[in-house]
Amino acid sequence: MYASPPIPPGTVALEDYEQAARRRIAPEAWAYIAGGSADELTLAANRAAFRRLRLRNRVLAEMTGAHTRLSLFGQELAFPILMAPVAFQRLVHPDGEKAMAFGAAAVGAGMVVSTQASQSLEDIAGVARTQGAQAPLWFQLYIQHDRGFTEALIRRAEAAGYQALVVTVDAPVSLRNTEQRAGFRLPAGIEPVNLRGMAPPPPNRAGPAESEVFQGLLDGAPSWRDIGWLRGLTRLPVLLKGIMAPEDAARAVAEGVDGIIVSNHGGRALDTLPASIEALPLVAEAVAGRVPVLMDGGIRRGTDVLQALALGARAVLVGRPCVYGLAVGGPVGVIHVLKILRTELEIAMALTGRARLEQIDRTVFWEEQGAPAGGSAPCTPPRTPV
Ligand SMILES: Cc1cc2nc3c(=O)[nH]c(=O)nc-3n(C[C@H](O)[C@H](O)[C@H](O)COP(=O)(O)O)c2cc1C
Repeated sequence: MYASPPIPPGTVALEDYEQAARRRIAPEAWAYIAGGSADELTLAANRAAFRRLRLRNRVLAEMTGAHTRLSLFGQELAFPILMAPVAFQRLVHPDGEKAMAFGAAAVGAGMVVSTQASQSLEDIAGVARTQGAQAPLWFQLYIQHDRGFTEALIRRAEAAGYQALVVTVDAPVSLRNTEQRAGFRLPAGIEPVNLRGMAPPPPNRAGPAESEVFQGLLDGAPSWRDIGWLRGLTRLPVLLKGIMAPEDAARAVAEGVDGIIVSNHGGRALDTLPASIEALPLVAEAVAGRVPVLMDGGIRRGTDVLQALALGARAVLVGRPCVYGLAVGGPVGVIHVLKILRTELEIAMALTGRARLEQIDRTVFWEEQGAPAGGSAPCTPPRTPV
């Protein structure tokens, strides 16, 4: 059905998938997928911040009946890990997003489909819903300069059965030097098919002495006003993705959004932002439990997932590792990546003595010693700098 090349022996962790994928993906596409913005400081920070955190193990805890289930927007997830929206998945596999959706459905993982998917959102939903799969299927929306087309896109997503809109707000413009140096261009036959038929953006009005950004690229870019417009347009839960500043999180809640995704776009938007895991506790504090907070950026281990949940995330999203799984082993690789991460989370829960997700709080950290289990204030910043 979908091509699933054999997975190289010894591929046991997400890092192994990254190494194996690098050998399979053309260098220019690799620059696009693995790269970040500008000097890639934020890209590196996403991993480095997790590496600094230290956990506190707890022994002999009662783990009978342990599980990782949760409910989000009335939807049930078997475990708190979703596939982040990633554009143009046909770059790494001929069946792209459909093969990815097949893998996600097989393990019951939630999937967020990008506006810039290389296959139709209806076809992807069709695959996600085969096998009787129930896992959440969300649509990531980039608000287009053509608001009429944007509304039509939302209607298509609703009709195809997507259950939430993830509106990405952190990258109206970006600076990708790694990609530029590698000369990355979308190969023939790979395009954002869901945007077909949209009127081209207005021609760049910037004269030679004017700003290419302000008079050009930002023409038609969304603002807070569009979030209110969008909120009135759909009954689907609306999440904003790309929130890092607590004041933006507070504004988003005031605008009526249903969820927040703390994200720096995997280090692909504004360089020199801190790691997502560093911003998470501050955003969680500002949101104060009014809507669910999710996060992505640098999640590569089950301990990373546990730490993100401890710092205020209800669930996490994973971007590049799923693409690497797809590149290396097709849907089987995707299944394996998600299984590895889920199993690692369960091991981390067992070794920190947490039988359910609600029991994961700041007392999992080494430096929170003395706080009674479940009793530490959820919003106090941990003493370990994250
Ligand atoms: C190749 C690539 C394409 C991406 N495309 C999108 C996209 O279309 N929309 C979006 O909201 N985020 C996009 N992202 C960002 C991811 O959704 C996510 O925020 C990021 O990959 C998380 O970091 P991680 O890769 O370290 O897990 C993309 C990321 C990558 C690597």
